[in-house]
Amino acid sequence: MFDKSTYLNRRKSLQNKGLNGVGLILGNGESPMSYSDNTYHFRQDSSFLYFFGLDFPGLAGVIDFDSGKDYIFGNDVDIEDIIWMGPQVPLKENAKKVGVSNTAAFSKIFDFISSAIQQGRKVHFLPPYRGDNKMLLEKLLGISSLRIQDYASLQFVKSVIDIRSIKEPEEIIEIEKACATGYEMHVVAMKMAQPGMWEQKIAGTIEGIAIAGGGMTSFPIILSQHGETLHNHSHSQILEEGNLMLTDAGAESLLHYASDFTRTVPVGGKFTQKQREIYEIVLAANDRGQELTKPGATYLSVHLAAAEVIASGLKDLGLMKGDVKEAVRSGAHAMFFPHGLGHMMGLDVHDMEDLGQIHVGYDDEIRPVDQFGTAYLRLGRKLQPGFVITNEPGIYFIPSLIDKWQNEKINNEFINFDKVNEYRNFGGIRLEDDILVTETGSKLIGERIPITPDEIEETVSK
Ligand code: GLY
Ligand code: MN
Ligand code: MN
Repeated sequence: MFDKSTYLNRRKSLQNKGLNGVGLILGNGESPMSYSDNTYHFRQDSSFLYFFGLDFPGLAGVIDFDSGKDYIFGNDVDIEDIIWMGPQVPLKENAKKVGVSNTAAFSKIFDFISSAIQQGRKVHFLPPYRGDNKMLLEKLLGISSLRIQDYASLQFVKSVIDIRSIKEPEEIIEIEKACATGYEMHVVAMKMAQPGMWEQKIAGTIEGIAIAGGGMTSFPIILSQHGETLHNHSHSQILEEGNLMLTDAGAESLLHYASDFTRTVPVGGKFTQKQREIYEIVLAANDRGQELTKPGATYLSVHLAAAEVIASGLKDLGLMKGDVKEAVRSGAHAMFFPHGLGHMMGLDVHDMEDLGQIHVGYDDEIRPVDQFGTAYLRLGRKLQPGFVITNEPGIYFIPSLIDKWQNEKINNEFINFDKVNEYRNFGGIRLEDDILVTETGSKLIGERIPITPDEIEETVSK
């Protein structure tokens, strides 16, 4: 964990947000896989990690905004636990490491919250995403677990987002570590991208690299010759010469900060002419995205500029037609680029998505766009120094989407469907880097994973 001053400062920032009452941040419990003692790898809640730092199950943190006191509720182990788990540090000692001096058994949280409610104090909590925490909140607050999300505190959510959005220097160092592991994962995947190789073998090998790095993957690995399926978690196919392999994968650092990279490579190491042409467009969109990423720019405008690079490149190849700006205004690019350019990244790969994307990525000035494609943009608002974001343009040929648009004549005036149909089996290309917004512009985090077509060909062939 970080030094205790980090957690004290973070909770102080929360105290300074002008909230009244108490803020409740639940940690995560163990999550059973097939019976209760056979659990998935434990992952602490990110907001709990951020403000209370302790990385084990069965904890809840409370910040009393009126008295200024902090509390951690949790249970010390008993002799039976010690027999199975070995000696454990008492909660009191652990809490001291994150600057919290008030601790109590977990069951005491019921008394604490019910007394706060009886005194008419507001209990702020964040939207729960795990079933057991929804049930716990139902018991604590008397609100149905089915509707508990609706009662999460917007003021608390916005305060937490405000603080977590700006990454501290020590967080950047953690993200750099996650990126270094991500680099290794991707280069190994590239070298393994040979005809006859089972996709699963590559996915398993690079997952092993993430685990060997001390953390785990930051999300389930996407690795497929069907890159046109955006979140393709099936790794069942054997690699064939002539296909593209898209790998979207990242690692968590020891302190659970994420990386998130995508590279697309030709199986066997040689791009066809067609593949190289589309690849160059995605790379140009990626470069343009980074160039425009700077404080004060809205990420919506960066997204649309990358979309213009894509539309313009596809027009040069004869796949699109008409005025490029008009095509993007009409959303015609989204048949090829149907997702957003990027998202915040930090303790979560889609940082703070549990708190509500609308609050993380948008504000009163920049509202979500209700147009196919851009509607999936997770981050639209003005960039600030200290934001960490991903930059991940792509071009995909999704046969069902092509058929639908062609049949319904959607954006007919901007798309040459005859030409597009020559690419039906192309698959997809996405190129994703992780970027820090600096005072004056932006910079890539970590060494750039091979990305030019020549670098890719060389790495796969080596
Ligand atoms: N890993 C999913 C994404 O790139 O957003
Ligand atoms: Mn990704
Ligand atoms: Mn991403």
